[in-house]
Amino acid sequence: MKASSISISIVLIFISLSISLLRFNNSVDFDSFLRCLPTHSNPFIPIADAILTPTNSSFEYIYQLRASNLRTLLSSTSRPVAIITALHPSHAQATVVCAKRHGFQLRIRSGGHDYEGLSYTSNVPFVILDMFNLHSIDVDIESETAWVQAGATTGELYYRIAEKSNVHGFPSGICTTVGIGGHFSGGGYGFLMRKYGLSIDNVIDAQLIDANGRILNRESMGDDVFWAIRGGGATSFGVILSWRVKLVRVPPRVTVFTVPRTLEQGATDLVYRWQQVAPKLPKKIFIRLQLQPIKNNINSRTVRVLFFGHFLGQADRLIQLLNINFPELGLLGSDCLEMSWVESTVFWAGFPTGTSIDVLLDRRLVNRSFFKSKSDYYKVMIPKQGLEMLWEAMMDIEDIIVQMNPYGGRMEEISESKTAFAQRGGNLFMVQYMVVWSESEGGIDAAARYVELLRRLYSAMTPYASSNPREAFLNYRDLDVGSKESNETDFENTKEYGTKYFRNNFIRLAGVKAMIDAENFFKNEQSIPPLPVRATH
Ligand SMILES: Cc1cc2nc3c(=O)[nH]c(=O)nc-3n(C[C@H](O)[C@H](O)[C@H](O)COP(=O)(O)OP(=O)(O)OC[C@H]3O[C@@H](n4cnc5c(N)ncnc54)[C@H](O)[C@@H]3O)c2cc1C
Ligand SMILES: *[C@@H]1O[C@H](CO)[C@@H](O)[C@H](O)[C@H]1NC(C)=O
Ligand SMILES: *[C@@H]1O[C@H](CO)[C@@H](O)[C@H](O)[C@H]1NC(C)=O
Ligand SMILES: *[C@@H]1O[C@H](CO)[C@@H](O)[C@H](O)[C@H]1NC(C)=O
Repeated sequence: MKASSISISIVLIFISLSISLLRFNNSVDFDSFLRCLPTHSNPFIPIADAILTPTNSSFEYIYQLRASNLRTLLSSTSRPVAIITALHPSHAQATVVCAKRHGFQLRIRSGGHDYEGLSYTSNVPFVILDMFNLHSIDVDIESETAWVQAGATTGELYYRIAEKSNVHGFPSGICTTVGIGGHFSGGGYGFLMRKYGLSIDNVIDAQLIDANGRILNRESMGDDVFWAIRGGGATSFGVILSWRVKLVRVPPRVTVFTVPRTLEQGATDLVYRWQQVAPKLPKKIFIRLQLQPIKNNINSRTVRVLFFGHFLGQADRLIQLLNINFPELGLLGSDCLEMSWVESTVFWAGFPTGTSIDVLLDRRLVNRSFFKSKSDYYKVMIPKQGLEMLWEAMMDIEDIIVQMNPYGGRMEEISESKTAFAQRGGNLFMVQYMVVWSESEGGIDAAARYVELLRRLYSAMTPYASSNPREAFLNYRDLDVGSKESNETDFENTKEYGTKYFRNNFIRLAGVKAMIDAENFFKNEQSIPPLPVRATH
């Protein structure tokens, strides 16, 4: 190296050093952040009406209002320097630009259902961009499409479709207060999964705010980014403003059923058989299992399995089909209820029969509880002795719920690389293990105990679940599958959770991240880092 180039390098190092020092100073400059916001947003819809800082009396109320898990809410003392409850897309753009410029981390929150609270907690100074108020839904039956803003809930989407048509629906989640901003970007599954796949399989366009505050659509973001935000967790790539979806066709009447069976009523054989049958049933049939320990009589416990079914058609046809394919269940006409498709979304959400579909518009998170979940994918059947071991483990844990969701059908037809969502063909079912408890059952003080019990049960299922990697479902976020400090950027530390969530799609996701957000502005404890240049092979 020549002397002149050395001195140029020294000058360059000095310049970049002073730039980073400058940035560091800016990072504590909250006033500059606040002053920045109005200069980047629509003057006719004042952003001041959207800014909440700890001095605003409703700050703590809004912070807590949209946090669904009391475990993560009450175990964290972290608070954002501000919550921006965007009232206009430009407010979201301004929040991105100004948070980046002034060194604050960004947490994006739509429905607040993140299992680990990553949409509202952080270990470094941060801002919450709350998308909850941006929830307009524009359904066009003629083209069978809809634009849905990120803050809308699945319940609102179902309701707005039903307002215009009784023969259209959309495949999304079972809980109707989930925000579609987070929900779709992790895949979004529900009772239409076997017929129509995931929410993202029916997403045809999106509006995404990138790290420079620009609004991109499918065309301007390009195929790679559009691929990544469908299943890769949009939060690593930008802010979803809205999704455009293709509606799906449903019959005017559908059928649902609930069949309970305890161990004494032959549940072990039935669950064993369900594993064989449910992934192969006609696509129009979806049977989810929900398992819970219950008191059998005064001094003994058992496991009760609820067979929840959905059929895109009428009851007599369903009974015929199940008598051929799954006679062991013994489904009767009296177990079945016929209703419109939108009423069936109310059934799945767990409301009592006859509840008005108006509950779908209720965005409040009522009766919140403390919970911790883990997920598994199964590619081979759990043998009967494995099921018996699961029953044993469950009976030791009060307040455990296990849900088994059948795969097959459309999920088998879509390739692993079609979207960023990797768990497709070859899976028989997906399982969620969940402990849920209330304040009166110990509240936050009982968290460590419940989490430990859940981990033990999960560990007991190791011989049967998917392995190398043991896969997990992003929407059932679980920091146990691997995590890093939110501001850490080392690629190596992300491979473990990256592969469990995304399998082989992880490397492509990291490559897309390097294209759209090379500076890694959008990050959290489980985000996708930019692929280091040397890691490409
Ligand atoms: C009771 C309950 C039932 C559920 N049922 C189902 C189900 O049936 N099917 C299913 O698939 N999942 C289900 N889930 C999981 C749910 O899909 C995820 O928790 C999902 O991430 C929630 O999205 P949200 O917007 O409500 O959550 P948030 O907490 O707001 O966000 C979750 C994640 O997405 C990011 N994010 C949110 N909004 C945006 C945005 N606009 N742009 C970019 N990133 C964003 C956040 O930063 C965070 O990382 C359920 C969850 C709960 C609590
Ligand atoms: C929060 O307080 C500031 C300062 O008093 C005020 O300007 C702003 O409008 C308040 N925000 C909201 C959403 O009311
Ligand atoms: C919430 O809890 C209360 C008291 O337990 C109960 O009466 C009410 O029905 C619950 N609401 C919902 C929507 O579950
Ligand atoms: C992350 O933030 C913590 C707390 O502010 C700090 O101590 C640490 O050095 C940061 N790490 C990185 C990689 O920036």
